Amino acid sequence: MEKDTLILSIESSCDETAASVTKNGREPLSNIIYSQIDLHTLYGGVVPEIASRKHIEKINRVGQAALDEASVGLSDLDAIAVTYGPGLVGALLVGVAEAKAISYAAGLPLVGVHHIAGHIAANYVEHKDLEPPFMCLVVSGGHTHLVIVRDYDKFEIIGRTHDDAAGEAFDKIARAVGLGYPGGPKVDKCAKEGRSDAVFFPRGHVAGSPYDFSFSGLKSAVLNYLNSCRMKQGLDGAVVYSAKTGRSDFDPHEMIDPEEGITVADVTASFQAAVVDVLVSHTIEAAKEYGFDKVAMAGGVASNSALRAGMKEACEKNGMKLYYPSPVLCTDNAVMIGCAAYYEYISGTRHGLDLNAMPNLRLEDFAKIKGTT
Ligand code: KG4
Ligand code: ZN
Repeated sequence: MEKDTLILSIESSCDETAASVTKNGREPLSNIIYSQIDLHTLYGGVVPEIASRKHIEKINRVGQAALDEASVGLSDLDAIAVTYGPGLVGALLVGVAEAKAISYAAGLPLVGVHHIAGHIAANYVEHKDLEPPFMCLVVSGGHTHLVIVRDYDKFEIIGRTHDDAAGEAFDKIARAVGLGYPGGPKVDKCAKEGRSDAVFFPRGHVAGSPYDFSFSGLKSAVLNYLNSCRMKQGLDGAVVYSAKTGRSDFDPHEMIDPEEGITVADVTASFQAAVVDVLVSHTIEAAKEYGFDKVAMAGGVASNSALRAGMKEACEKNGMKLYYPSPVLCTDNAVMIGCAAYYEYISGTRHGLDLNAMPNLRLEDFAKIKGTT
């Protein structure tokens, strides 16, 4: 029997300090996540300087907790892995410095991982049958990509957003209706109380690029709609709610347009439907054109209930098999980094102690630039 490969992985690209020990890539032995969300909620979004400081404060304990929960020591490990881009530079640096220090002190090989390759790999953890190639929709707070996953370490981006990422659009609309930060899960919940066909919002398409996305037109349409409703009621158009908590008196059934019987929940459901429509239709069309019968989703927005339902229905209709991770593996975590690192590790990727944080690291470049031993 072959020896198991144990990897300690670290993720600190945004506002989660996370560490995990994975066995042979797909088997998590621990999954420690320290979320800073409560801190950033005070400001209505992630504050980079605060994120870096909190990472520094937590990283040692989070790493130790990952080892403890897995009941392993540094001497049991085969490698140490870390997200080195893309993300907030100060936040990434904390994880990269920690991983390099452990690599040096324990004499372990260092494997740098691309954050999005990690999100995609989250699918392998719970779906042991999933193997490349497949079509993957990556929808997070910072990215909206349609990716052909040719192999564990070979990616081709065939569609990307021209402006906002899907998660960013959710966060902005949440703020505009007074739901506060982080918006995605709150909009998801609120939309369940509303009608998705109450208001028609535009489905953003990019001329000449069938698989690209654009959400800024949709965002403006929703904001303009909200303002016009308020003015119809004789109120000031633009209202800025507290970023911290949103509106303390938030009520999903509040009439935003009493004349037409439209509630806040109707607006969020209609907005969500517009996002989901575009994400689903682009993904299915791309899978058909490129001949894939396996479709996966990754990133924080992949936990959206309407997106999951819409994609499931479309995949069933088109004879495609759909994969997505559990919500805890959709948002940032280190299990996904350990899984992606395993495939890098077995294909020979090794980084030196000169590994640096690369805030703008592109997925295509990551697949090309491999580390050297
Ligand atoms: O992947 P992720 O944790 O971080 C990035 O790499 O960006 O994604 C975070 C994003 C946020 O914009 C958040 O609002 C969104 O994912 N999100 C959701 C849901 N859960 C998280 N968006 C819509 N519906 C959800 N249920
Ligand atoms: Zn992420």
